Amino acid sequence: MRGFSIKTEIEEYDTFEEYAKEAQLGADDLVLCGEHTYDDYVAPLSLPVQTLFREKYGKGEPTDGMVDAILDELRGRKYGRIIAIGGGTVIDIAKAVAVAGPDDTVDDLYDKAAELKAYHELVIIPTTCGTGSEVTNISVINRVSKGVKMGLASPAMLPAKAVMITNMLESLPYKVFATSSIDAMVHSVESYLSPNACTISRIFSKEALTTIIKCWKKSVEVGGGDAWKDYAAEFLKASNWAGLGFGYGGCAAVHATAYPLGSVYHIPHGQSNQLMFRSVMEKYKEIKPVGRINELEAIIAEALGLEADESDKHGDSIQPLEALYELMDEVLKAQPLREFGVKEEDLPVFANSVINTQLRLLKNNYVELTEEQVLDIYKAAY
Ligand SMILES: [Fe+2]
Repeated sequence: MRGFSIKTEIEEYDTFEEYAKEAQLGADDLVLCGEHTYDDYVAPLSLPVQTLFREKYGKGEPTDGMVDAILDELRGRKYGRIIAIGGGTVIDIAKAVAVAGPDDTVDDLYDKAAELKAYHELVIIPTTCGTGSEVTNISVINRVSKGVKMGLASPAMLPAKAVMITNMLESLPYKVFATSSIDAMVHSVESYLSPNACTISRIFSKEALTTIIKCWKKSVEVGGGDAWKDYAAEFLKASNWAGLGFGYGGCAAVHATAYPLGSVYHIPHGQSNQLMFRSVMEKYKEIKPVGRINELEAIIAEALGLEADESDKHGDSIQPLEALYELMDEVLKAQPLREFGVKEEDLPVFANSVINTQLRLLKNNYVELTEEQVLDIYKAAY
């Protein structure tokens, strides 16, 4: 059997300056980030590092075209460590760059996924509280040339270090906080329910879920807005723990069904997960109402402080998952897929594509889903 281990060293700092000093960042290091991040955190320290700014190569989530342009730019450059500072996009790009040989393109990386090796030491500093990608071996690239957004997984992409710095979240806009914390919540739920999780990975998933729910609740109770910043350290840690949970147990149908929404309609990753979360959970409960999903509901109930027999104003007992959907709505209002321009005729195409291209994720489902059931899930979210 596969044992649980944490191969990435996880370091914690209060400020980027403390980290830069400790790590002795210098001319041999390539800092890969957005220009704003560089201006806010790196430039004031006048470090002699090399840089690569992601926005020069395209907007939004990583595509094969964007990563190929970056690989072209870096060909012939000499550098040792890659210091990636950013959210999911920057981290996914950095993972691909770290394992790309001198002549490799994105297609080559997917073709030889089984034998990838690390050419550079990879250090990840997350600036959102969502991806957890700093402790996983997966990079997700929208392969526009193939019309599919899919994950590339390899032990060679596991970062050497994840550096957690609370003040990197300082300038995070509310919408990015909302979608990234929703993403982390979904990681915790999917990895907790995964039949491929283990007792240790579930400890991380459970702690992440509990922390996110409690901190969402406290932030919403005082009116939302910037209130989440009082819990920035907790949200950052929780996203990391959720990463440790899904790094082992995996993500599942919520991510699998969300991917086409990202690749075709460019809905941000965390938000597309939110749009699918409820209908996937409802389908799970319909197919298998008794099982680990009940343990999950007990964790949610405890985090929300719900009493076992608590009822709503109509006298109906409050279902923990329902209460979670409501709380999530206060963080960011979920909307039906049609509001994002998704067309009804897309749904069977998406369902077919999910069944054919997202096996990596679907094997982690709480219950097996047929193409017809995946289509039902899309219809319920529509
Ligand atoms: Fe995710």
